[in-house]
Amino acid sequence: MTDTDIPASFPVPLPLTLPLPLANRRVVVVGAGSHTGRALAHAASAAGAELILAGPDPRKLEWTAGELSGPAKVVPVDLTDEASIAALATATGRFDHLVSTAALPANGPLADLELADVHRAFAAKVYGPLLLAKHLAPNAATDTPDGASFTFFSGVAAWRPAPARTVMATTNGALAFLVQALAVEIAPVRVNAVSPGIVDTGAWDRLGADKAAFLHSTATRNPTRRTGTTEDLTRAVHYAMTSPYVTGTVLHVDGGGRLA
Ligand SMILES: NC(=O)c1ccc[n+]([C@@H]2O[C@H](COP(=O)([O-])OP(=O)(O)OC[C@H]3O[C@@H](n4cnc5c(N)ncnc54)[C@H](OP(=O)(O)O)[C@@H]3O)[C@@H](O)[C@H]2O)c1
Repeated sequence: MTDTDIPASFPVPLPLTLPLPLANRRVVVVGAGSHTGRALAHAASAAGAELILAGPDPRKLEWTAGELSGPAKVVPVDLTDEASIAALATATGRFDHLVSTAALPANGPLADLELADVHRAFAAKVYGPLLLAKHLAPNAATDTPDGASFTFFSGVAAWRPAPARTVMATTNGALAFLVQALAVEIAPVRVNAVSPGIVDTGAWDRLGADKAAFLHSTATRNPTRRTGTTEDLTRAVHYAMTSPYVTGTVLHVDGGGRLA
């Protein structure tokens, strides 16, 4: 074939994803009741997985379950409570992948911080992931080609600290080191983190009329000249789940925002 034989365009669009890459896999999503966690549940279900939908609010989890066409089981969990995490392990049984989007931010000026809120922030992002690994790693299925994985959510605040975001920076930074330590301790189970930049997951709707200006100014500053989407995050989690040689890594899905 010469260069002149290559068609200018392909008659059939190339598929964006492989067919059902998570078929016969059980995926636990902590945070499945809203925003990124809900989007992850949709993506994993569409990829063929059986879902365990976990999070603090059973009504939100039932809502997500009702949207999925594939099998899904609702298991409420509170990452601030070890007994609840142990119960999730029992209800889940053998599984292939776990992802947690859990966050309980304790933002505000240092002078106003309440220790109880700081504890909750660490529970969602640090102690919770640690305890998920403690209680669920023994049930992780390591005998498949992709192996078993945990994927936790860190965040750009760790690499780009700002006033009144000290706890957020610290919990996200601690999580980045936690995944390295867990990747060694619970090997061959793989452990990774996704670190979003500013992503319009729905969580920013709380800004109301100020949301559009906030996203615009962030997009202007980001090297990618845009903010993120939930699809950017689901792609990264899918990569972490299905890449058998990737562990102890932070995937920065931040449009380069930590650098600008
Ligand atoms: N969106 C961004 O721009 C951005 C930027 C940097 C980092 N991140 C990180 O990316 C992740 C996903 O972002 P998002 O925007 O989807 O966040 P989000 O809407 O705030 O999601 C947080 C999730 O944590 C769950 N949760 C709260 N308390 C919990 C508890 N005690 N136990 C278990 N789960 C609990 C919430 O459940 P309910 O829905 O039931 O309340 C919710 O599903 C978060 O970890 C966030 O910190 C996001």
